[in-house]
Amino acid sequence: MENIEREEKKLKSSKKSLLAKDQELYQEMEENDLKISKEKDEEQDEHFPPSEDILKDEVDHEKALEHIKSKCKFKQEYVDNNIVLSVNHLKQYFSFGSGISKYKLKAVHDISFQIKEGECFGLVGESGCGKTTTGRSIIRLYNITSGSIYYKGYRIGAGSRWNEKEIKYTKIRYKAKVKELAEKLKNNEISKEEHDKELAEAKTYADNIIKVQKAKIKQIKYDDSHVDPNLMREIQMIFQDPIDSLDPRMTVETIISEGLQIQGFHNKVENHKKVVEALERVGLIEDYANRYPHEFSGGQRQRIGIARALVMNPKFLICDEPISALDVSIRAQIINLLNDLKDEMGLSLLFIAHDLSVVKYFCDRIAVMYFGEIVELASSDELFKHPLHPYTKSLLSAIPKPNPLTEKERVRIVYNPREVHDYSKEKPRLVEILPGHFILANNPEIEKYKKEIEELDLKLEADNK
Ligand SMILES: Nc1ncnc2c1ncn2[C@@H]1O[C@H](COP(=O)(O)OP(=O)(O)OP(=O)(O)O)[C@@H](O)[C@H]1O
Ligand SMILES: [Mg+2]
Repeated sequence: MENIEREEKKLKSSKKSLLAKDQELYQEMEENDLKISKEKDEEQDEHFPPSEDILKDEVDHEKALEHIKSKCKFKQEYVDNNIVLSVNHLKQYFSFGSGISKYKLKAVHDISFQIKEGECFGLVGESGCGKTTTGRSIIRLYNITSGSIYYKGYRIGAGSRWNEKEIKYTKIRYKAKVKELAEKLKNNEISKEEHDKELAEAKTYADNIIKVQKAKIKQIKYDDSHVDPNLMREIQMIFQDPIDSLDPRMTVETIISEGLQIQGFHNKVENHKKVVEALERVGLIEDYANRYPHEFSGGQRQRIGIARALVMNPKFLICDEPISALDVSIRAQIINLLNDLKDEMGLSLLFIAHDLSVVKYFCDRIAVMYFGEIVELASSDELFKHPLHPYTKSLLSAIPKPNPLTEKERVRIVYNPREVHDYSKEKPRLVEILPGHFILANNPEIEKYKKEIEELDLKLEADNK
């Protein structure tokens, strides 16, 4: 740890001219990756070098957590602020093809949000915007590309893409410097001593960056292979499709108890008890345990999916569109059930949906996602009071109104980013426009949105009079 700090200090004091040159090269090489520089500050203190020790198998849970805390990345400030889950600059890319036809799909591109203990956080967006991918990354079904995820202060996932790129670009920059110095020497612009001195400085600078980044990558890998399984058990996910997510060849009992078996609970009698308890919790009966998924209705299957998550006694539940495959009457039942469970078990929830009407009353805070990015994030009331982003407005305009007279007048707003945003001069960033209300915008847009807030407030005042 001390060594790395020393190395980092040395790095900072290295030549300023080199830094300026670096910046130019960065811009030339990949414009998009400049966005990553946002992560730079955060990632700088992200990782410290791992010690050689490994966790002993035979330590109890508390001791294991203490042990992990001392070896892996842990952020006390999340615990102090009651933040149960923190997603920081999460990126999840998928690669396809090979050779020249290889391309990358940016399913999730730089999203950050935090969920407090007992909170219900809604993630809303159109199909394919990366909601499920976010949920799956949290439960570690994917190795995340970049960014980090913290649960109860422990880092449960991190990606090393940024660090790998830093190493790659450092090598490129070093090679460019060597070439530049050789050129200067050839043209007699510098003496041999100056050349050697500058070359040695550049080498030390590059070596130090590479050393630090390699240590950080090592730490990410170390953390990744030492995530506490008991901690991960607290996070459960209700999967999107109630039909496909249940294996048709397994009985309900096997489906629900599978997680327990994987976690090392092999006592059949105990497991059966837990299965029955979970079934009863979701309003099903013991007899259903021996039946197969195809023998149930859609709503019942969704309940089985919920029971499968509940049997693990979760503290954090990710509900991936748990009601979108269901008809309206069953939707209300499932929402009520989740609401009851939330109070009963003190759960924190990440509720994924594709329309705002579902999350309006159920969630405390809502994040609106579009094409892998969060475009607006606010408390539920605030979002409905001041919907600012054109995509949020578009989602709101899609909600049918209960009154047939006003429903007739409802105008559907179509969101076309190319028409409404001009990001050619200035790129957007997530800004806190009102306390707790974040929006993806650039400076001219921020001014526009501020005016809109004033107008909305005036309108509200006039309506209330
Ligand atoms: N395992 C995977 N491999 C490759 N691409 C994937 C994978 N999972 C998701 N994607 C792609 O990532 C993008 C986001 O998918 P995701 O399932 O997260 O969307 P979603 O917001 O949950 O959509 P929906 O509302 O339809 O469920 C899609 O374009 C999808 O094709
Ligand atoms: Mg999905």
